[in-house]
Amino acid sequence: MLDKKMELALNNQLEKEAFSSYSYLAMAVWCDQKSMEGCSQFFYRQAEEEHMHMMKILAYLIERNGQPIIPSIKKPKSDYKSIYDIFNQTFAQEKEVTQSIHDLINETQKLNDHSTQNFLQWYVSEQREEEAVVMKILDKIQLIGEGPMCLYYIDKEVEAINKQIVSTEAKA
Ligand code: FEO
Repeated sequence: MLDKKMELALNNQLEKEAFSSYSYLAMAVWCDQKSMEGCSQFFYRQAEEEHMHMMKILAYLIERNGQPIIPSIKKPKSDYKSIYDIFNQTFAQEKEVTQSIHDLINETQKLNDHSTQNFLQWYVSEQREEEAVVMKILDKIQLIGEGPMCLYYIDKEVEAINKQIVSTEAKA
């Protein structure tokens, strides 16, 4: 039986994953409306991934006889200064989620909850990979520059990175 404190903490994480999904959806729309299809495809896929992260927690809560709470989601930001800004905010969001997962693991240690600790290890790897991808994109943007002539090349780089992720996931 899941400790009530852990049930609450997992529901808080479930809400964060749901917010991340909506936030990436808003970013996808911003890019889509600027005809940056590589970037919009990256964020549409990322929105689906975050939804899957939320669903994994929901399924785990049910498996452990806990009560999932379907959260109401605050409206995500929908306007951004630039493509660098959008990926910089993505990085900040992912770092926050990583910290939150690490805090949850600390809580499992206090509660001696090995099952939840084991369940959360998947998220530790996932966060490490997500942060690495966004850092790589930020590096590419800095390398290419951000002038109007550069946006096309940034979009192509992100498209290639996204295709690589899709292909790796298909093989897994
Ligand atoms: Fe599921 Fe990237 O946070």
